[in-house]
Amino acid sequence: MEPINLHEFEALAQACMEPGAWDYIQGGSEDEVTVRANRSAFERIRLRPRMLVNGSSCDLSTTVLGTPVSMPILVAPAAYQCLAHPEGECATAQGAGMARTLMAASTFSTCSLEDIAGAASGPLWFQLYLYRNLRVSETVVRRAEAAGYRAIVLTADLPRLGNREKDIRNNFDLPPDMRAANFTEEDLEGAHFIVPIFPTWETVDWLKTVTSLPILVKGLLTAEDALLALERGVSGIIVSNHGGRQLDSAVASIEALPEIVEAVAGRCEVYLDGGIRRGTDVLKALALGARAVLVGRPIFWGLAVNGAQGVSRVLEILRAELELAMVLSGHFALESIDRSLVKFV
Ligand SMILES: Cc1cc2nc3c(=O)[nH]c(=O)nc-3n(C[C@H](O)[C@H](O)[C@H](O)COP(=O)(O)O)c2cc1C
Repeated sequence: MEPINLHEFEALAQACMEPGAWDYIQGGSEDEVTVRANRSAFERIRLRPRMLVNGSSCDLSTTVLGTPVSMPILVAPAAYQCLAHPEGECATAQGAGMARTLMAASTFSTCSLEDIAGAASGPLWFQLYLYRNLRVSETVVRRAEAAGYRAIVLTADLPRLGNREKDIRNNFDLPPDMRAANFTEEDLEGAHFIVPIFPTWETVDWLKTVTSLPILVKGLLTAEDALLALERGVSGIIVSNHGGRQLDSAVASIEALPEIVEAVAGRCEVYLDGGIRRGTDVLKALALGARAVLVGRPIFWGLAVNGAQGVSRVLEILRAELELAMVLSGHFALESIDRSLVKFV
């Protein structure tokens, strides 16, 4: 049976996946308060639709850091996608390309960044985890630039791995035939999951000496940090709590969005991820000032169910839901969506 929404994709994906890998993808840290909050916070925001507005169809196309995309829905960086499908990140890149949108590829991809670029027909960003040996990180950034990636996304919320108790209980590790394909065994020094050095604000300065690509910082949740990011000259901020996989009880990302948008005041682009499962979630994030949203776990669901086609289908479902939500709320253009569309209950 063809899934008609992301919840049905989720149920189908679970049935196709090995339980330990499923827990790794779905899980959050500790009591998963933040995983749940990412969803429940959307339910506390309601829409104030306008009626009898002149219009018939919506143009969802937009730009992200100047790059055209067909809709304000992007693919979040996520590690180890071969856990869900043998073609892993290459299939995701194809699926994102079919949907004419952008994929952010993780440092810890199970396909190399060059292979992902080869499979992609749409634009790419490269997500960076800083590695103990800065030379290894520098090389990977230069490779991403050479392969045509259009921005570097520095993930700020993983100075250490969160306490993901499901993975601990499952003793989860990558299967022996899978590895972090951007690195040699020597680079990794035997580590799969460990990110041994802490990125700091100085890392942004260092990154600027290594690349001329625009830099986004991912994982900010406060106005204070947004202002520090602006001082460092970043081009974009991704408001995120890593899908509830890092600090448990951190605020839901949609709760953090308004204060960050206010602090930034248009000086850089602001994005959001965490808990996006419906077009109405996307609409709420846009109304609160996000330029676009990124989707994490549902990409794995699409991959697990049907590879590149599944990823594309997940994105097309979100596109259709967003378009319908815009029409039903009287907004026929992204530009007309503003804060007056939402009400907190
Ligand atoms: C299995 C998995 C792996 C992830 N790996 C990364 C990663 O390598 N780098 C990163 O910045 N974020 C990573 N994330 C976080 C996502 O980029 C994103 O912030 C989060 O998934 C969004 O929440 P959602 O899953 O509710 O859409 C990962 C998330 C999941 C579920």
